[in-house]
Amino acid sequence: MIKKLKSHGTWIGKWTFILAATGSAVGLGNIWGFPYKAGTNGGGAFVLIYLLCIVMIGVPIMISEIIIGRRAGNSPINAMKRTALDSNSSSLWQFVGWSGITAGVLILSFYSVIAGICLNYIFIAASSNEFLSSSEQFGSVIESPANLLFWHSVFMLLTFLIVSAGVKNGIGRMVKILMPMLGALLIFMVIYAIFNGAFIKALSFLFAPDFSSVTSETFLSAMGQAFFSLSLGMGSIMAYGAYMPKDQKVVPTSFTVASLDTLVAMLAGLAIFPIIFAFNLEPNSGPGLVFVSMLSAFNQMQFGQLIGPIFFILLSIAALSSSISLLEPGVAFLSEEGYLSRKNSALAISLFAWSLGIGTALSFNTLSGFELISGKNFLDSLDFIANQILLPFGGMMIAIFVGWFMKKELIINEIGYVNLIIYKLWRFFIKFIAPTSVALIFISQIF
Ligand code: PFF
Repeated sequence: MIKKLKSHGTWIGKWTFILAATGSAVGLGNIWGFPYKAGTNGGGAFVLIYLLCIVMIGVPIMISEIIIGRRAGNSPINAMKRTALDSNSSSLWQFVGWSGITAGVLILSFYSVIAGICLNYIFIAASSNEFLSSSEQFGSVIESPANLLFWHSVFMLLTFLIVSAGVKNGIGRMVKILMPMLGALLIFMVIYAIFNGAFIKALSFLFAPDFSSVTSETFLSAMGQAFFSLSLGMGSIMAYGAYMPKDQKVVPTSFTVASLDTLVAMLAGLAIFPIIFAFNLEPNSGPGLVFVSMLSAFNQMQFGQLIGPIFFILLSIAALSSSISLLEPGVAFLSEEGYLSRKNSALAISLFAWSLGIGTALSFNTLSGFELISGKNFLDSLDFIANQILLPFGGMMIAIFVGWFMKKELIINEIGYVNLIIYKLWRFFIKFIAPTSVALIFISQIF
């Protein structure tokens, strides 16, 4: 039997869940991952494959996570345990929750260091530096442990403050402020890029389909990106699902979140690449794209000291609304078990993730030669363990659990009324397509 656990409350209105889940999904992955992958992997051909992955794997797993979370109203560990017991399966299924929470804390530790650099860049972009090139400037930012640790601490403190304030008054209230801001800033950046950048060139880079560059690698890359981008496999969506009102429909809500996430990824490409091409810079991905190429463009353009900070505020907001969803599952678990109050749970986990983040901050400078996994520095090792192993593992297990072990009545009760064809398609995808596809990504990334 499972003991009675403390409740965390429910969000009011259907938009809070949609904003919170979209906030979790929209993050650095959308802004510096998707546009580059699309542009260099066949443009429209990649986008098409990506959309298929979202519909056939992403949305079915998202629906499953929400069903499990909302039914239980608890953290991913207890939600998995309770649903497994109610389905006459082993309580060992709770390990899916444990693996998710571990992944969340690992990702949070390095996400916060990188998001800290985004915060730092709001100020760097506001003041032009004529003596350093943008790559020298990036070098000077990452070679100082004190600087990285300072901004890492600021970002972690913000994450802690929001999560410790609670589900309704912290996360719920903040996403209602952050997400509209993110939307407005993104639309502003796209309009700016339409009028001032090489827009047509960017459109063709992102969307002109080139099927000749599609290989099996393209499928794996699209699938991995879809998975990471929707924040699946680590319990964030399951934890947020626990606070979703009972009368909200799971299937249309999941489609809304996935569509918003995809829209933001595409708009991010239309905000960034016109500017990159207008200044004859090379398309790039990750930190090099935003901290070097974009900064160089801002340094050269008119009003760059205004547009630059706006861009980095956008990036920081996207990161913050994702980081709170990385912290929440663990905090929900510690506080519902009654070990610690919500505030102290948030303090304990964010302090732990903060300490782990020191390793990431130092992996840019003094500890750059240290390898946790052979051939990978500290940051790359954590990234590998969390994103390449724990997330796909969690996602695959959730699909297998819902597809093969969870009792049908429990599913039907939670999913509510849904068109029979859509229901049958979802069952088919979750039983067969999602587990095998994720297993493929899993195997291909390890070997
Ligand atoms: N979805 C986020 C992004 O695209 O950047 C990253 C992420 C956040 C992954 C939260 C997993 C997660 F639980």
